Amino acid sequence: MEKKFKRTLITTALPYANGPVHIGHLAGVYVPADIYARYMRLKGEDVIMIGGSDEHGVPITIKARAEGVTPQDIVDRYHNIIKESMKGLGISFDIYSRTTSEIHHETASEFFRHLYDKGEFVEKTSMQPYDEVAGEFLADRYVTGTCPHCGNERAYGDQCEACGTSLNATDLINPRSALTDSEVVMRETKHWFLPLDKWEGELSKWILEGHKEWKTNVYGQCKSWIDLGLQPRAVSRDLKWGVPVPVEGAEGKVLYVWFDAPIGYISNTKELLPDSWEKYWKDPETRIINFIGKDNIVFHCIVFPAMMMAYGDGFQLPDNVPANEFLNLEGDKISTSRNWAVWLHEYLVDFPGKQDVLRYVLTANAPETKDNDFTWSDFQARNNNELVAILGNFVNRAIVLTHKYFEGKVPAAGELTEVDTQLYADINAAKVSLSNNLDTFHFREALKDAMEIARIGNRYLQETEPWKVAKTGDMDRVATVMNVALQICGNIAVAFEPFLPFMSEKLRDMLNMGQISWDALGGDAIIETGAAIKPAQLLFEKIEDEAIEAQKQRLERIKKENQVKNFKAEPQLPNVEFDTFMKADLRVGTVLECKKVPKADKLLQFLIDDGMGTRTIVSGIAKYYNPEDLVGKQVCFIANLAPRKLKGIESQGMILSAENADGSLVVMGPTAPVVPGAQVK
Ligand code: 2FM
Ligand code: ZN
Repeated sequence: MEKKFKRTLITTALPYANGPVHIGHLAGVYVPADIYARYMRLKGEDVIMIGGSDEHGVPITIKARAEGVTPQDIVDRYHNIIKESMKGLGISFDIYSRTTSEIHHETASEFFRHLYDKGEFVEKTSMQPYDEVAGEFLADRYVTGTCPHCGNERAYGDQCEACGTSLNATDLINPRSALTDSEVVMRETKHWFLPLDKWEGELSKWILEGHKEWKTNVYGQCKSWIDLGLQPRAVSRDLKWGVPVPVEGAEGKVLYVWFDAPIGYISNTKELLPDSWEKYWKDPETRIINFIGKDNIVFHCIVFPAMMMAYGDGFQLPDNVPANEFLNLEGDKISTSRNWAVWLHEYLVDFPGKQDVLRYVLTANAPETKDNDFTWSDFQARNNNELVAILGNFVNRAIVLTHKYFEGKVPAAGELTEVDTQLYADINAAKVSLSNNLDTFHFREALKDAMEIARIGNRYLQETEPWKVAKTGDMDRVATVMNVALQICGNIAVAFEPFLPFMSEKLRDMLNMGQISWDALGGDAIIETGAAIKPAQLLFEKIEDEAIEAQKQRLERIKKENQVKNFKAEPQLPNVEFDTFMKADLRVGTVLECKKVPKADKLLQFLIDDGMGTRTIVSGIAKYYNPEDLVGKQVCFIANLAPRKLKGIESQGMILSAENADGSLVVMGPTAPVVPGAQVK
């Protein structure tokens, strides 16, 4: 029998405050969590949704150092951007706090100390890289040196970016400190480890036997971790930024960010409900759901549960961890460091009032079972063909017709025909599927179910044609049809509230609806007969090509910038003797004519004044130039290259071009005019 719960605690992965949030975070975590929380609230459940910024960890210190500011400056900046932008998108956290808060430091510190006092940690000393000039232990990222695999002299202690190999700082040859460029020495240091192996049996029983219903990606990852055998994990670091390890002799050490961050869920609940937080964490009748991305599975399903098992005192484990896969952007992995992302705070500026469009597209494309792709063309198509053409259009017709025939008053329904009763049956069937999909975290399917109600509405108007019935004078029947159509609008306002809360609110206002509840969904009296409704306002508007083009161009620009940043010159070719070089007859010529070669999209045909007469040269640069722009320009070419035919045209030489980082070609010429035929020496 299904367990009955009294309340639900929803946690959402705490995003690192070293950058703003992007569509990948939203599709993976915050939009699904928000849909679920709103659904629970509509059902009248006792639910809280916890969020906050994860403000510790090495990347934040690296960013601070790079900018010459403090880590606190960095997290203040991004915490505010993240908090405001999530609010802008209608993510309805009951609290959005942060891990630099006092209450979090206290809570995390107490958590560690409790485990320490219970003897739950294993203490180990090991040799770690140390910078004697700075007087600091170095995180792997702060050690640079020669990659043992490819010889790259600027490899990082965690990874060589030239060959992509993951490294440990101790693997590097000639390791140096990225802080002071001094030689790195190895020094002994003590750390505390949580023996995950101790909890392996319990974890295995809890997940592998007890939670077979979890998503296969989550269950599978847990199983492979457990099958490999769990190892003790260090929960402290030699670092200044973080929650200090609350043990004597642990100066200069902080809790590992992945130890304190999940405790942030508890601290933030405490901050929200100082007097009643415990019932959300320690009562078996509370259901805990962790919304996360796939890279967080091990921490939420293995490490944090082991921490709670070790703590004891009634802490409950999550009931479900519906982790999502990743969202890509236009076919490429989203990356904060490469700026390959659609940032939420920028979206809200570029598309004001269109929060629901993004929520809709991210839900329709949610990476629930596999990685998925966000493209701007799909964004536009879903808005124009689904939100505008199906949902907005139906609601608009229903409201406009009510004003036309009944002066904006909800007409009373007469006797229902078979079409009408079938319609309510269809909406109720959609509701069953919708509730079921929401209960089981299948939000893409759930959104389709909600959309089905709008499609049913459109079909209903198409079938009943009230505008034709009105012409026959049967206004009783028109009244029934319009009453039903308005009930569908009311149903839409309820069904979409979790997904598109801004639209739902606007629609409820138009329909003068009061409080709504999930129970009312499927009903034929959501909208009161005789009530006045407001004039129709468009719920969605078409997104024009220009707005989409601007976004695509932004991404193009970023791609180019990244290519320049990542450009690596080709290694030099072997030396040649001077005499060999002199065999190539390099000249400057003036372009007399230039045109496209028919049926060859890469080729341009030149007629060149070479000082000796004229010659034809065919060159593969058509993608990068308008032929007209080259006429009159001077270009360098190899005059004595053996002629060869390209697309049937004899090319008498080769024009010299340089290849840019993005693969584009730039024609080479003199920096001041010279006589045609001048030799290049
Ligand atoms: O992966 C991340 O972005 C982490 N900051 C998530 C932390 S979730 C929780 F444990 F706080
Ligand atoms: Zn390498």
